[in-house]
Amino acid sequence: MEHSKIDIRKDYAKQSLNREDLADSPEELLKRWLSEAAEVDAFDYNAMYLSTVNQEGKPSGRIVLLRGLEESGLRFYTNYTSSKGKDIAANPYVAVAFFWKELERQVRIEGTAYRLTTKESDAYYATRPRSSQIGAWASQQSKSNDQNDLGQRFEAMSEKFKDSENVPRPEHWGGFRVVITSCEFWQGRPNRLHQRWRYDRGEAASEWRVTPLDP
Ligand SMILES: Cc1cc2nc3c(=O)[nH]c(=O)nc-3n(C[C@H](O)[C@H](O)[C@H](O)COP(=O)(O)O)c2cc1C
Repeated sequence: MEHSKIDIRKDYAKQSLNREDLADSPEELLKRWLSEAAEVDAFDYNAMYLSTVNQEGKPSGRIVLLRGLEESGLRFYTNYTSSKGKDIAANPYVAVAFFWKELERQVRIEGTAYRLTTKESDAYYATRPRSSQIGAWASQQSKSNDQNDLGQRFEAMSEKFKDSENVPRPEHWGGFRVVITSCEFWQGRPNRLHQRWRYDRGEAASEWRVTPLDP
């Protein structure tokens, strides 16, 4: 890419995040920012960049979709035998980032990922379209597919469940909850004087320390 194309400069001036705008918990403020991102029709506003670290200490990142947000944390769903699933099994510490360019906002989270209970994963799986449910059976996420037989596996699974009213959840597919340890909200501001606020979990689980950070 030509240097001139990446050397873009712009001023951020759309929104602000002052102390009076903060919420009691990062989950609450994140919910507000998500709904504001939805309101401006931000593209895939629930897409989050999830970073994991494997057993050898090597990081990797990928996008997953946020499927639930409660005071207890952020929920996403995946294949437990995928690379990220294996990373988390070996090392539950993860990082998550959201970016909504339409609002000049970023959120960075550090936390611990826990598998959801089978009941919780069942409940979400049941809401998925049948084709996605069959896809969960067909895909061996993150494994090599030299055979190029994903379509065939999908057909085979469709056949297998053709007489079943409900497609059961495969054991290898389910959710994680990321429990937040720290969470930083970044609001772009003019003259690079961006506003940053970091929430750190205190001794009591529901207690948060809030610190403004220099940009
Ligand atoms: C917009 C978008 C949404 C995605 N959502 C998910 C998701 O919710 N769960 C998931 O397992 N993979 C999702 N993916 C695919 C992942 O980015 C990744 O390719 C896959 O999970 C395999 O990652 P891994 O090999 O690191 O485990 C999404 C990708 C994109 C671009």
